[in-house]
Amino acid sequence: MNLPILILSFLLLSTTTYAHNITRILAQHPEFSTFNHYLTTTHLAAEINRRRTITVCAVDNAAMNDLLSKHFSLYTIKNILSLHIFADYFGSKKLHQITKGSTTTSSLFQATGEAAGTSGYVNITDMKGGKVGFSPVDSDSDQPMATYVKSVEELPYNISVIQISHILSSPEAEAPTAAPTDLNLTSLMAKQGCKAFSDLITAQGADETFTQSVEGGLTIFCPSDDTLKSFMPRYKNLTADGKTSLLLYHGVPVYNSLGMLRSSNGLMNTLATEGANKFDFTVQNEGEDVKIETKVVTATIKGTLVDEDPLAVYKIDKVLLPRELFKVAPPAPGTKSANSRAQGEADAPGPAGDEVPADENSSNDSVRLVGWWRDFVAELQFGLGSIGLRFLIFF
Ligand SMILES: *[C@@H]1O[C@H](CO)[C@@H](O)[C@H](O)[C@H]1NC(C)=O
Ligand SMILES: *[C@@H]1O[C@H](CO)[C@@H](O)[C@H](O)[C@H]1NC(C)=O
Ligand SMILES: *[C@@H]1O[C@H](CO)[C@@H](O)[C@H](O)[C@H]1NC(C)=O
Ligand SMILES: *[C@@H]1O[C@H](CO)[C@@H](O)[C@H](O)[C@H]1NC(C)=O
Ligand SMILES: *[C@@H]1O[C@H](CO)[C@@H](O)[C@H](O)[C@H]1NC(C)=O
Ligand SMILES: *[C@@H]1O[C@H](CO)[C@@H](O)[C@H](O)[C@H]1NC(C)=O
Ligand SMILES: *[C@@H]1O[C@H](CO)[C@@H](O)[C@H](O)[C@H]1NC(C)=O
Repeated sequence: MNLPILILSFLLLSTTTYAHNITRILAQHPEFSTFNHYLTTTHLAAEINRRRTITVCAVDNAAMNDLLSKHFSLYTIKNILSLHIFADYFGSKKLHQITKGSTTTSSLFQATGEAAGTSGYVNITDMKGGKVGFSPVDSDSDQPMATYVKSVEELPYNISVIQISHILSSPEAEAPTAAPTDLNLTSLMAKQGCKAFSDLITAQGADETFTQSVEGGLTIFCPSDDTLKSFMPRYKNLTADGKTSLLLYHGVPVYNSLGMLRSSNGLMNTLATEGANKFDFTVQNEGEDVKIETKVVTATIKGTLVDEDPLAVYKIDKVLLPRELFKVAPPAPGTKSANSRAQGEADAPGPAGDEVPADENSSNDSVRLVGWWRDFVAELQFGLGSIGLRFLIFF
């Protein structure tokens, strides 16, 4: 089999990762329509769909009314609902056979990093008379205990949807969360490993553009401090306009959760996009990895700083270099395997080192044949493809 066919087959495999669709499952049961609606608006549905072993504790519309009557913000509702999603499979049978009568499981609230300490864990107790009770580990004891009502759908061991009697909640989940529009973007990035990028935004006076974009939806890809350090000599070489464009190039004027990025490949405009200057890039998924491909460089998402609709900030491992400012690496005629070099490169934390050296004059794109570079990218994609494949087979 030749390489293109192999790559194609990996692409096909990686687009069939959706084994279940919680929205569709719940749509068959009108009594859960409010719960289903909020799974969608909080983007928890995408998170549920992309996980392979999961339990969803749904509540009916009456129980949702109790929650909605408290007038929480959407961010707080998201935290509370994430307590209802367990990162483990609990079918009806398993729930009624809990060894020693009680077990503790972790919810998505725990996984989001919003929760501190033990909050985000839920006790499941096999009670007298065959009843099963659910209570968040740090819940108020005066709350009515939520109990198992019935199984809604079981696809062992991918997803189990069960109905429980009441909303699960905890003081931690109900704690007020700052609306993303009130967050100080630059200090938020500075505190979480993107200080250098945040300082450049402030120095260049671009913070206002970023801040004003939050309300309408904003996704920022911020290069880590290490990455940016080695890029600084080339940054300093840019004109003032070039610097501003480069910084704005790291913002997309649409909110994208990680789940959304993982489930969609394609072209994205940026805050730097203006008229003929496209300043766009491509999002490309490889297994669990999300990659950002400009024509010059490919970066990978390495972490989430914040993900609260309408704002998401992710840390990336390369500075995004737009073709409008930097020379493009053109396709090269097949130089044979750059395997050993590729492996060395892949292990090295090589920031900004693997794209074509650029100068500011990029009016001519048809330059420089860097054969090994293209091979390196092909090999890397190939390698990640097979990792994704193995993941599919063994999980
Ligand atoms: C899930 O199902 C809903 C309703 O049928 C549909 O709108 C949505 O696109 C589906 N999501 C995925 C990821 O297939
Ligand atoms: C949860 O389970 C642990 C261990 O069984 C127990 O110590 C704790 O009191 C339980 N918490 C609640 C709220 O039921
Ligand atoms: C679980 O998901 C896998 C793919 O991830 C699929 O092959 C399998 O049929 C699913 N199981 C059920 C019961 O739907
Ligand atoms: C964000 O925080 C920085 C440093 O704490 C401060 O200088 C800046 O004025 C703040 N920005 C906004 C929009 O409040
Ligand atoms: C900066 O630009 C000059 C002139 O175009 C070039 O000679 C030099 O290599 C550039 N420096 C870096 C670090 O890109
Ligand atoms: C960039 O290249 C074009 C065409 O090759 C040339 O006309 C122009 O003077 C160059 N600009 C700079 C700043 O070198
Ligand atoms: C771009 O580079 C190619 C190959 O080096 C050359 O033939 C062409 O004239 C150049 N175009 C411009 C506008 O400089």
